[in-house]
Amino acid sequence: MEASDDRQAGRARRRTGKLRVSTVAFHRRAVTGPAAITIRPLGEDADARLCARLMAGSEPWITLGRGYEESLAILRDPARESYVARLGAEIVGFVVLSMAGAFVGYIQTVCVAPEHQGRGFGSALVGFAEERIWRESPNVFLCVSDFNGGARRLYERLGYRVVGELNDYIVAGHSEILMRKSLGPLSTDRGVAS
Ligand SMILES: CC(C)(COP(=O)(O)OP(=O)(O)OC[C@H]1O[C@@H](n2cnc3c(N)ncnc32)[C@H](O)[C@@H]1OP(=O)(O)O)[C@@H](O)C(=O)NCCC(=O)NCCS
Repeated sequence: MEASDDRQAGRARRRTGKLRVSTVAFHRRAVTGPAAITIRPLGEDADARLCARLMAGSEPWITLGRGYEESLAILRDPARESYVARLGAEIVGFVVLSMAGAFVGYIQTVCVAPEHQGRGFGSALVGFAEERIWRESPNVFLCVSDFNGGARRLYERLGYRVVGELNDYIVAGHSEILMRKSLGPLSTDRGVAS
């Protein structure tokens, strides 16, 4: 999609209101046919615990020292929004975002279960988060660790651009790369978005 189309689509999305439940259909990379996931707000506490285990057991969070309890606190934090992707009944991934603070529209965490990676689910989760954020604000922010080349490549492919580097931010010796995907400035002829 071109930037101007993107901008128009975002404005339309911001006008159309809520999108809390989503079914995302796409083709798997392998020739195994189409798969559909549903993305819904995190509900059950058992689901939060499963997601926290997934997060605490994966890179980059192992290197960043983010253990199970801290991961669970992030997922349960009422100031953030957590959404879970399911393939049938199985949780395949989740996304956590924040609509408060200095960077309104910040995707804090995207995670797909190792056995389901590379099938488009991560892209679908990011796309879902973008739709939700663009209803209120034209910017989507996220950080990626300097050692997470795979995720950075994915974000660049999805249209994110590097806007800064936070040295020694979470752990010494590693940077967090701040990236942004924008539909336009906060201030428009119709007022300030946020
Ligand atoms: C990054 C991640 C969310 C992407 O989800 P996904 O479903 O695998 O992604 P998609 O299938 O939509 O896109 C595939 C792309 O994701 C990236 N990717 C795939 N596996 C990855 C992995 N284990 N770690 C990081 N990035 C990965 C690659 O860029 C890949 O593209 P490529 O095949 O051309 O190299 C997922 O791989 C993951 O949870 N990784 C571990 C946690 C993580 O790094 N989260 C991001 C923190 S900023």
